[in-house]
Amino acid sequence: MKLILAGNWKNYPESPEEAINLLSALARRAKIFKKLSTFIIPPAVYLGSAAKKIKSFAYLGSQDVFFSGDSTVTGAVTADMLRNLGAKAVIIGHSERRRLGETNQVVSEKVKTALKSGLIPIVCVGEEVHDSEGNYFELLNEQIRSSLEGVRRKDDAHKIIVAYEPVWAIGRRAKEAMQPTELSQMVIYIKKVLTEVFGRDSAGRMPILYGGSVEPSNAKDLVTSTGIKGFLVGHASLEAKSFGEIAQALLK
Ligand code: PGA
Repeated sequence: MKLILAGNWKNYPESPEEAINLLSALARRAKIFKKLSTFIIPPAVYLGSAAKKIKSFAYLGSQDVFFSGDSTVTGAVTADMLRNLGAKAVIIGHSERRRLGETNQVVSEKVKTALKSGLIPIVCVGEEVHDSEGNYFELLNEQIRSSLEGVRRKDDAHKIIVAYEPVWAIGRRAKEAMQPTELSQMVIYIKKVLTEVFGRDSAGRMPILYGGSVEPSNAKDLVTSTGIKGFLVGHASLEAKSFGEIAQALLK
């Protein structure tokens, strides 16, 4: 299986012209992105342009998906709409959305909605603080179980990508990211929880990504013998050059 590289643009760039320029710059590096499973995940307003531009070298992803029992809701972008536009994946439960009030329960509903429409959920989990007592293990355990509640063990679990994103490591510089030794431990722990919930077979097929200040300078160390299957990259995905360098690091 190819390693995964997902670029989460968040709420950038601010103009369609900049978005097009970034997409064009990424397209010039198509060759390297094709060697990975690359996902470009722009803000919703640029999904249409991105869908056309990246088709030959990357998959399109959305940063969120609407979930509700109501069928008519102003402002909603549904899973079927995303799918019909050509999206392949959707980030669910990013810490920046959890901070706005998205609960584990909402995350689990969104995960099921995405699966039903054939979108790959990229489910974000991660602790706010990495305390010395190790309380984060329990928090992560609970977050993984509740965020994936109701996911069918045999049919659906293996379609999910888990993105481990320690909140304290997001949006910083490479040297403040999680260190590889610690990341290895966290990956083992996440695998253990997933195995308990979904069984060895399904859990073994669920890729675990790392996100949190991945930059060209730390990418290689973070992927070497830590057990991760790729990255969810924030700020460094907004420059084609650095995103391309991270792709290179994954391929080494
Ligand atoms: P960052 O963001 O790479 O800027 O830390 C990662 C993320 O929030 O997905």
